[in-house]
Amino acid sequence: MAYLRIPSADRVIDDADSIRSFLLPHGIHYERWPVAGRIDRDATQEEILAAYAPEVEALKESGGYITADVVNVTPDVPNLQEMLNKFNQEHRHAEDEVRFIVKGHGIFYINPENGDPVFSIEIEEGDLINVPAGTKHWFDLCADRTIRAIRLFREKAGWTPLYTGDAIASGYQPLCFGPNPIVAKGIKIEQAVSIAA
Ligand SMILES: [Fe+2]
Repeated sequence: MAYLRIPSADRVIDDADSIRSFLLPHGIHYERWPVAGRIDRDATQEEILAAYAPEVEALKESGGYITADVVNVTPDVPNLQEMLNKFNQEHRHAEDEVRFIVKGHGIFYINPENGDPVFSIEIEEGDLINVPAGTKHWFDLCADRTIRAIRLFREKAGWTPLYTGDAIASGYQPLCFGPNPIVAKGIKIEQAVSIAA
């Protein structure tokens, strides 16, 4: 279940229908596909793509995507932080960023073009998100430093980050809260999360 947060408004949204409605005006598509009982989270790329072939094919048809693969990031990936540093600064892509999460967690920050405040959406197993081409955003992993996701592409070259040069991301901690944030009395959320990590 995703977890949407608007830091400037101190607002969180944690039910799928409300998240979908919130994202719609920003051109971002969100939906849920089942994982539990459908696929082993550690299955091979081929098995995962085969398990979700009907949904993937439907997305390819509706969005014009040509290829799909499975990205698998774990804490022991060499040069993980270097890899994350490519995406944790504000950027755009020339094509949609389409992700279906099979395992782990990640957090997108979106900087809306219409001047609305920055919001984050934390995604996990079962979440499908489509951040359209041209959207200003940045991405980071959560404390588990793990994400396994189906990706769809028109062409992979289009997914290169095009940096805006704006340092806005540095004003936001890559914090994942989840549905059950650990907040002890007298401890700031940021501290509580780092303790939990
Ligand atoms: Fe991106």
